[in-house]
Amino acid sequence: MTPPPVAGGSYVALIGLGSNQGDRPLFIRKALTALAHSTRCRLVAISPLYQSDPVGNPNDPNPYLNAVCRLETDLSARQTLDRLLDIEKSLGRVRRERWGPRTIDLDLLFVGDKIVEESGLTLPHPLATQRSFVLEPATQIDPEFRDPISDSPLHEIRNSLRTRGDWTPLQRLDFPMPQELTSRQEIRQFIQTSREKGQTVGFVPTMGYLHEGHASLLRQARLENDLVILSIYINPLQFGPEEDFEQYPRDKKKDFELARETGTDAILTLSEEPMYSPEHATYVEVKELTDHLCGASRPGHFRGVTTIVTKLFGLVSPDRAYFGQKDAQQAIILRRMTIDLEMNTKIRILPIVRESDGLALSSRNVYLDEKQRQEALGLHRSLLRAQELVASGERCTETIDSAVRDILNTCDGAQIDYIGLVDSQTLQPVERLERETLLALAVHFGRTRLIDNTLLTPLA
Ligand code: PAF
Repeated sequence: MTPPPVAGGSYVALIGLGSNQGDRPLFIRKALTALAHSTRCRLVAISPLYQSDPVGNPNDPNPYLNAVCRLETDLSARQTLDRLLDIEKSLGRVRRERWGPRTIDLDLLFVGDKIVEESGLTLPHPLATQRSFVLEPATQIDPEFRDPISDSPLHEIRNSLRTRGDWTPLQRLDFPMPQELTSRQEIRQFIQTSREKGQTVGFVPTMGYLHEGHASLLRQARLENDLVILSIYINPLQFGPEEDFEQYPRDKKKDFELARETGTDAILTLSEEPMYSPEHATYVEVKELTDHLCGASRPGHFRGVTTIVTKLFGLVSPDRAYFGQKDAQQAIILRRMTIDLEMNTKIRILPIVRESDGLALSSRNVYLDEKQRQEALGLHRSLLRAQELVASGERCTETIDSAVRDILNTCDGAQIDYIGLVDSQTLQPVERLERETLLALAVHFGRTRLIDNTLLTPLA
């Protein structure tokens, strides 16, 4: 069976979105944005858009746009349904006839393994396993999710529906390839045009070799902005002399394809011009926050990061910029920098994305051989152990440190760089957990240095 609660007592809910009236992509986007901003909900995945002819009403000729999203929530099923009805209402949906045209239709398809039959609430949704426009997008984002009635994973149900020929044809609507911005002139032109149209800009700076962690940033940026710009630049300034600048993995074609799937509008590569001119003489340095953790192990690293991010913000002037919690220290330093330097960019920090076995996604995972990759699972295991200790009332950081160290020491080939227990705002080391504390790890496996972290909140 699908395990019902995910971490923290939340449930996975799959929600179907459909529209066949007005600006259909806009309605779907607005509904997704409303879900992304809903309290006690975390929007974790959104399927591609699919178009299909309407089913059930011959007087309604407009094709439908459909998508499915995955939400993690600790709301009850009834509360989640009420949330969906509120969003429909706020987007002008009037429920008149069952098969009538819809500006926006939000269906609660599944909530974990719940089976419910109450007035106005049936779970799973009766159509969840019968309609191609639900099953196909749902399978795209959660193929292993099990229908609690048949106990079969969605991909099997989809395949058997297809084999039976019980399948309404669907057209997947792919986003166009993003425009590559190769020079300062092209970037400025692109930004100026968008500003003249009053469009907001979401920006995701990266060093390329994109993975699902980057994709989650791009998808969130897509939800919250009119335009999404990605940058790909391997910044020499943030690598130490013995580090992997030369070997850093690159795959431009794959990066462009993943960016296209997320609806990214433009990719800044600046491939026609050097990022740093020979006269470059300005560096940005954030004090104190850079003293510990990676700041101590990698001297000059954050100076390189803050300098390049300032330059990129200068080129793009984003309304929002997106970073991963995986680089927790980087995110906090960049937020401080934007505040201190009066920058008009809001820093958005999104959760760590992990493989199903717990390994945090990183471009550097590609360096690991099979054995190292297996041993590297100890990082996540040790973070979970720390969470367990804190959940059982432990507040002494020495005890937590030694429990984490014990686990990491059982990982063959692991060389601990640091185990840091620091205040989650100031990044100063703490002795006792009084407030939210960041537990951050850096561990070498052979020549590969991996980082991971979790936030620990002491019991009240
Ligand atoms: O997180 C990264 O990939 C880099 O540090 C960043 C923010 C793109 C700066 O080069």
